Amino acid sequence: MLPGVLCVSNLIIAGGSRLSGIIEVPGAKNAVLPVLAATLLNNGTSILENCPELDDVHTMLEILSALGCKTNKNGSRIEIDASNLTSSSIPEVLAKRMRSSIIILGAVLARCGEVIVSYPGGCEIGMRPIDMHLRALEQMGAEIDGVSQGMLKVKASKLQGCEILLDYPSVGATENIMLAACCAEGETVIRNAAKEPEIEDLQEYLKKTGVDVSGAGSGVIRIQGVGSRKIKAEPVHRIIPDRIAAGTYLAAVAATGGSLVLTGAIYDHIGSILYCLRRVGCRIKSYPGGVVTLESDGHLKALDLVRTSPYPGFPTDMQPQIVALLSKCSGTSVVVETVFENRFRYTEQLQKMGADINVQGRTAIIRGVEKLKGASVEARDLRGGAALIIAGLAAEGETRISGVGYIDRGYEKVERVLSRIGANIKRVEE
Ligand code: EPZ
Repeated sequence: MLPGVLCVSNLIIAGGSRLSGIIEVPGAKNAVLPVLAATLLNNGTSILENCPELDDVHTMLEILSALGCKTNKNGSRIEIDASNLTSSSIPEVLAKRMRSSIIILGAVLARCGEVIVSYPGGCEIGMRPIDMHLRALEQMGAEIDGVSQGMLKVKASKLQGCEILLDYPSVGATENIMLAACCAEGETVIRNAAKEPEIEDLQEYLKKTGVDVSGAGSGVIRIQGVGSRKIKAEPVHRIIPDRIAAGTYLAAVAATGGSLVLTGAIYDHIGSILYCLRRVGCRIKSYPGGVVTLESDGHLKALDLVRTSPYPGFPTDMQPQIVALLSKCSGTSVVVETVFENRFRYTEQLQKMGADINVQGRTAIIRGVEKLKGASVEARDLRGGAALIIAGLAAEGETRISGVGYIDRGYEKVERVLSRIGANIKRVEE
């Protein structure tokens, strides 16, 4: 690649082949990002294992380095020494590159007493407000210097533990409050907290640094803040498997027909996804030690209704992928997106491939078609891009997907993983 030349990747898929093989589930993007933020609380060296190779992880490591951390990445193992922070301002160019940079807020505020971060706000799937994050931090004694021109400045000479009730079980708000609460004076109780497995993984990491935290997964989380005492530990933590990556690959094989053996999965984390895949007609078995198998004849039937909801409901991050699958299931399916207000934009691209989808607000009505046909389409967000890959694999003919940078944020070497199970997919740089 010539220096200074913008390199744009496309994925080229020759669809129609049945897929079959074995995939090891990678570490979870939405677990490793908050845990990387949490390492900022530790005046020692944290070792994280099973970290996925993703652009968002690289961006997060650049942010940690900019704050003064020494980081060392060796494959899926990352060492972070946060004993000597030198800044509390997250570089704008990095914050804008990663939607979830707001995840750092609570940790930097707790450790440094102030934080400056650019907050890009809305994106393809919704406005992504942070009112719940800010209201909770203010309750703990933080002063918000306003969000002007997308720059957010928060100060807190001291954080006070308190009881917080979230209007909605926001994953990011729960994570930010947990991190701020670690260094607050006294106990913080978070009610209506998010119950996602990634929250439990964050709690497990924090416990390894000596923080007294409990209740993750139950909806009520209690954190005994250490106040001015330093958190200093040498934790070693293995990131949980990525339930959305697992669900995405299962949906791909369901759509093309074939058989998949997933290893390194956690059955309960993908229970709601497996429930839907069984209902469309896949044969699914699970075995001890994290093995899940799926078989599909590729001729599947519609689902009368799928509603996304917070964990343990059907995950919003699997909504585009299940819609792509349902596009070629016989009959009419209805999918309701209750978490984000604008998460059906990718269906315009599926329609270019012959999908028959009618979107009314937060509801998509999908009439299954016999065949999808290959087309040139554009990914504009991470999971919408995954949906286009699934449709391309199941379609007749060639599909060219641009905007692959979005997909690389959440799927590690996606074309390599899929080629190994028989997909005819390649990446071309332009
Ligand atoms: C996390 O985003 C995930 N990202 C998202 O995954 C996931 O879709 C989402 O949780 C829901 O499960 C990471 O973990 C990095 P929320 P987050 O706060 O924390 C509203 C992917 O594809 N809200 O639970 O931003 C918000 O607008 C990504 O991997 C407020 O109104 O999600 C949304 O409608 C996409 N005010 C709803 O709550 C707030 O202060 C859920 O958002 C915060 C959120």
